[in-house]
Amino acid sequence: MDFYEVVENRRSIRKYKTIPVEEEKLKRILEAVRIAPSAANRQPWHFIVIKDEAAKQNLKEAYAREWFYTAPVVICACGEPGKAWIRRDGKNYVDVDVSIAFEHLVLAATAEGLGTCWIGAFDPAKLRAALGLPDGIEPIAMTPLGYPDEVPKATSRKSMTEIVRPNTW
Ligand SMILES: Cc1cc2nc3c(=O)[nH]c(=O)nc-3n(C[C@H](O)[C@H](O)[C@H](O)COP(=O)(O)O)c2cc1C
Repeated sequence: MDFYEVVENRRSIRKYKTIPVEEEKLKRILEAVRIAPSAANRQPWHFIVIKDEAAKQNLKEAYAREWFYTAPVVICACGEPGKAWIRRDGKNYVDVDVSIAFEHLVLAATAEGLGTCWIGAFDPAKLRAALGLPDGIEPIAMTPLGYPDEVPKATSRKSMTEIVRPNTW
């Protein structure tokens, strides 16, 4: 798949086959995450890879959807705001940086024939407790990772003219 095919084929997958994800594929995906860009190259991120069934079940307090647990792997992306670049007006770039790396994960998984679904609607306090996150580390996004067991239709998008403005607002 070339880059544009990957972008066009990606879908949020909410049903997974139980077959495991090959280690080589997981390694390549995590390498795509590792080399993502970040503001001032601070790399203020950590990725928790959860394969252990008991550890996965622990997450149910934080995110209860049954379909999420059909995938063999779950990855939680965490940010470390204290390590992130801060713009002069005080804006901390941790969410931007982690999101870029997370989208690398999502697109690399698609290129490997694997599915993901970006999850933001978890309970952060419960997720922190389930994963044992120390102070200063924030959970930002989670995804299941596995072979898709559904082929969702493409969801709609705004038109080009709604979102692109020439030269000024
Ligand atoms: C930042 C972010 C948070 C999201 N959170 C959730 C979520 O909590 N639960 C869920 O089922 N989907 C979640 N999604 C998936 C979106 O609903 C989905 O990307 C969107 O509807 C477009 O569909 P598509 O990904 O299949 O193109 C999230 C996506 C993004 C980018």
